Amino acid sequence: MTRSSINFSRRYSLAMITFFALCFVAKAQLSTDFYKATCPDVLKIVRREVLNAVKSEMRMAASLLRLHFHDCFVNGCDASLLLDGTDSEKNARPNLNSARGFEVVDRIKSSVESSCSGVVSCADILAIAARDSVLLSGGTSWKVLLGRRDGLVANQSGANSGLPAPTEALDIIISKFAAVGLNITDVVSLSGAHTIGLARCATFSNRLFNFSGTGAPDSTLEQSMLTDLQNQCPQTSDGNNTAPLDRNSTDLFDNHYFQNLINGKGLLGSDQILFSSDAAVTTGTKSLVQSYNSNLNLFLADFANSMIKMGNISPLTGSAGEIRLNCRAVNA
Ligand code: HEM
Ligand SMILES: *[C@@H]1O[C@H](CO)[C@@H](O)[C@H](O)[C@H]1NC(C)=O
Ligand SMILES: *[C@@H]1O[C@H](CO)[C@@H](O)[C@H](O)[C@H]1NC(C)=O
Ligand SMILES: *[C@@H]1O[C@H](CO)[C@@H](O)[C@H](O)[C@H]1NC(C)=O
Ligand SMILES: *[C@@H]1O[C@H](CO)[C@@H](O)[C@H](O)[C@H]1NC(C)=O
Ligand SMILES: *[C@@H]1O[C@H](CO)[C@@H](O)[C@H](O)[C@H]1NC(C)=O
Repeated sequence: MTRSSINFSRRYSLAMITFFALCFVAKAQLSTDFYKATCPDVLKIVRREVLNAVKSEMRMAASLLRLHFHDCFVNGCDASLLLDGTDSEKNARPNLNSARGFEVVDRIKSSVESSCSGVVSCADILAIAARDSVLLSGGTSWKVLLGRRDGLVANQSGANSGLPAPTEALDIIISKFAAVGLNITDVVSLSGAHTIGLARCATFSNRLFNFSGTGAPDSTLEQSMLTDLQNQCPQTSDGNNTAPLDRNSTDLFDNHYFQNLINGKGLLGSDQILFSSDAAVTTGTKSLVQSYNSNLNLFLADFANSMIKMGNISPLTGSAGEIRLNCRAVNA
């Protein structure tokens, strides 16, 4: 062989290796244009349905955003949360009588199915709906990565152990985020999702009367808000009353959540400890709260970045899982 033909075949095999390597990587990664050829209108359809839903109930934006979070933290973003059944994640402690919006997801799915059947995963629908919910609440937008496939099993025990609880200490919450590859910046920016939506008394009533066996309310809770909440959530009530996570602007995706924390007006224990606990200083969450309070655009940019990271938790790609026809059940 001549020198130049050796060079050519070397270059050729290098190109082939690179080509196959890229194919492999591309298969395992999500992309913004995944449905470009197979369901070009998917983003428009989901946007239209989310808009309809929030027009009839603004809170639905918050509920849909939370569904994506509760999906991604359990077996990755695979729509395992949407599966019905006694062993469902819906019946796990963090979701029971709490997670909502499943009928809206059904409506979105059936609209998408009528345009392109068997193509778009329920997991991707949750990711798009979460993005649209933030945007329609006056927050920010980002390019949603797509190409997730739907899981074949629900994981109720995984939901009970993997999702953070509002009474947990900051180091536990941080470790639950770390377990899915999210860091302290993600903990604080994503907690900013509590700028919209409501929480049941049952999730924060531990703070109101006898906090941690002290015989007194949580001392980090501001006095006038404490009085309001004690009236809203009397000890005799069933815990199903609700209060806004951000009393200042319940439906608006802004950074007032962080100002609340600085003013002792976080609703959940897990909110207020980001600012008020000793661990908030040592872990750096306190200074992040201060940064997001003073810089709305920094919060929105970090939130978008963290949402993309969260949406990337262990997606099923290639031939793993399936594209469910009904988000509530695996295909027959
Ligand atoms: C940091 C750990 C977190 C804890 C401990 C936590 C806990 C909670 C709790 C207890 C509620 C009220 C549930 C009820 O009323 O039964 C709630 C509501 C909510 N959470 Fe979180 N959450 C956390 C992080 C997140 C993240 C990362 C997101 C999204 C990115 C999120 C979005 C929401 C939204 C939007 C609501 C209101 C839902 C509605 O009104 O339907 N949360 N959260
Ligand atoms: C459920 O989640 C736990 C905790 O992440 C994990 O160890 C377990 O393998 C999961 N089970 C199934 C069936 O996916
Ligand atoms: C968390 O990860 C992001 C990248 O997604 C990085 O910019 C940020 O500095 C990290 N935060 C911490 C506290 O390590
Ligand atoms: C507060 O709770 C602790 C233990 O949970 C209990 O021993 C104590 O009697 C309670 N105090 C009041 C005032 O109810
Ligand atoms: C709260 O409401 C749910 C239904 O939405 C009900 O099943 C549950 O029993 C109620 N909780 C209590 C403590 O009554
Ligand atoms: C929210 O806070 C702003 C100032 O930060 C204040 O002007 C406004 O009145 C508050 N709105 C409500 C409903 O509390």
